[in-house]
Amino acid sequence: MHEWPKAQGREKQPMLKANHAVMLLKTDARDQAWIDAFSDAMPELEVRLWPETGDTSEINCALLWCPPPELFDGLDNLEVIFSIGAGVDSLLTCPTLPAHLPIVRMVEPELTAGMVEFCLFHVLRFHRLMHRFETQQAERHWEELPQVPATGVTVGVMGLGVLGQALARQLSALRYRVIGYRRGPGAVDGVEVFHGEDELEAFMRRSMILALLMPSTPETNRIINRETLRWLPVDAYLINAGRGDLVNEQELIEALDAGPLAGAALDVFETEPLPQASALWSHPGVYVTPHIASITHPPTACRYIVDTIRYYRQGEPWPHLVEIDRGY
Ligand code: GLV
Repeated sequence: MHEWPKAQGREKQPMLKANHAVMLLKTDARDQAWIDAFSDAMPELEVRLWPETGDTSEINCALLWCPPPELFDGLDNLEVIFSIGAGVDSLLTCPTLPAHLPIVRMVEPELTAGMVEFCLFHVLRFHRLMHRFETQQAERHWEELPQVPATGVTVGVMGLGVLGQALARQLSALRYRVIGYRRGPGAVDGVEVFHGEDELEAFMRRSMILALLMPSTPETNRIINRETLRWLPVDAYLINAGRGDLVNEQELIEALDAGPLAGAALDVFETEPLPQASALWSHPGVYVTPHIASITHPPTACRYIVDTIRYYRQGEPWPHLVEIDRGY
């Protein structure tokens, strides 16, 4: 059971009907895995798969990824929406999203672990110059390249939410120097934190490897562009595991061609799937993966959702609520 702080003197909220929770699912391609996981985690929960909704007035919760606008038709008794993804942009951009409803973000251990693994993998690759040794091997070329200890490498983590903080902890454990950037002030253990537009330049100037884990919002749109890329140290590396629209791809390619970037690992793109014609596919120094940095894992995700429902039924507020005005 997850533990969240108890509400103090807050008004109790209306509760999902204790014995009649009906969950509507609009998932990725893994409907059966979700259904099996819910039947293990909360057998009494009735699960319906969109568009087979049955009586829409009976549905009080929904677990969604990229909902089509018509999904919300008739869901007049919906009380809460659970996001399948860590990012909620696909929900918030849905024009028919009922604006008054709480949205609970996905905070599950396997999703966090997957994101940390993906970013660490590429940090280690770039730091230990494995991309260059791969090229040397293909050319049967034997040459020792200078190796720097992790204590000499500063990794900038852009976005210090659940995922960014988990990454920062693991980087620190590997003895990297970790700095972080976030929208507003707020300390994070072991991380030198920069915040706000004014401190972005100072943060980027120190980031030898920059890992993007920010949400997609109007403020973060193309935050990595010609102007900001120029602030990176020479031969810096970029890892984007956040959202494609954080980066201006054309200007990223220019920074790879002319400096200061020496390489990039990209899991997310302005257009997905990445178009066949994109120069990123074959750009030397670029690693492309198809938005797989981390995938929500139904068994642990269902346990998390069921725990939040049980917590809410005790009269507590929903944990990990999306702040709709802020965009994440
Ligand atoms: C994936 O992109 C997610 O938001 O979890």
